[in-house]
Amino acid sequence: MAFGPIMKVRTGELSFELAPLTRDSMCEFVNIDHGGGMQRHSVTKYLGRNLAPVLEDEYEWFDRVRASKDDIVWGIWLVEDDERTLIGNSSLNGIGDSHAGFIRQATSGSLIFRPEHWGKGIASSAHKVRTWYAFQHLGLHRVNSAVIQANGGSATALSRSGYTFVYTERNESFVDGELRHMDCLECLNPLDLFWRQWWHGDRPPASARRARQLTLQAMAWASKNVELA
Ligand SMILES: CC(C)(COP(=O)(O)OP(=O)(O)OC[C@H]1O[C@@H](n2cnc3c(N)ncnc32)[C@H](O)[C@@H]1OP(=O)(O)O)[C@@H](O)C(=O)NCCC(=O)NCCS
Repeated sequence: MAFGPIMKVRTGELSFELAPLTRDSMCEFVNIDHGGGMQRHSVTKYLGRNLAPVLEDEYEWFDRVRASKDDIVWGIWLVEDDERTLIGNSSLNGIGDSHAGFIRQATSGSLIFRPEHWGKGIASSAHKVRTWYAFQHLGLHRVNSAVIQANGGSATALSRSGYTFVYTERNESFVDGELRHMDCLECLNPLDLFWRQWWHGDRPPASARRARQLTLQAMAWASKNVELA
């Protein structure tokens, strides 16, 4: 699977693509001229990483992704005046069957390694696009995620695609002088076939029904704003 197909997104003033990474672009993840990216504490502190990667690590990761059979990774490319700038990535990892083979699921992850692009709605939009792709095109039943509680921006962006709280892992990491808890989240495929298979006779709780509407809205937004090349 390795890299996902090109998806061009236009939302208001903002244009970006979810598209494959290139080996040449991997230097952007650690580009010191743009602040160091993955070498910055502010970027990695909620990702459970303390060590700063260097270019060789990024190449190694690129090669691992390229060979992967159960991950789909996209670069997040900002498009301005026909210029594409790599600012992050978004992924569906560990795609496969679970629950005695009846359920297909994955775990999502994302980061924008240039903080000057945070808070512009890019992750919120990118999550909607990835959610649409996971449910509409891969036919997954569920996408899981996990967020350190202090990472409010991440939780907010995921909630806009209908990710909901499942349980808390206490004391998952130690960041900036404090033990931090991690919330485990899930996003369920709201399309009838998958929804019925997931709940099969159980009455979904109100929170799941509300989340379903959010996910449907996110997918409707994506189908309008994404060009799947
Ligand atoms: C988390 C991350 C992907 C968010 O990306 P982003 O493009 O800034 O997110 P968005 O702008 O789409 O949405 C963030 C929202 O959360 C809000 N927010 C920020 N801090 C918040 C907080 N502490 N609590 C609640 N909401 C918060 C923002 O204001 C924004 O809402 P708005 O659109 O109403 O202004 C980005 O900050 C990042 O890459 N961080 C480093 C890596 C990381 O933590 N990845 C996620 C691991 S789970």
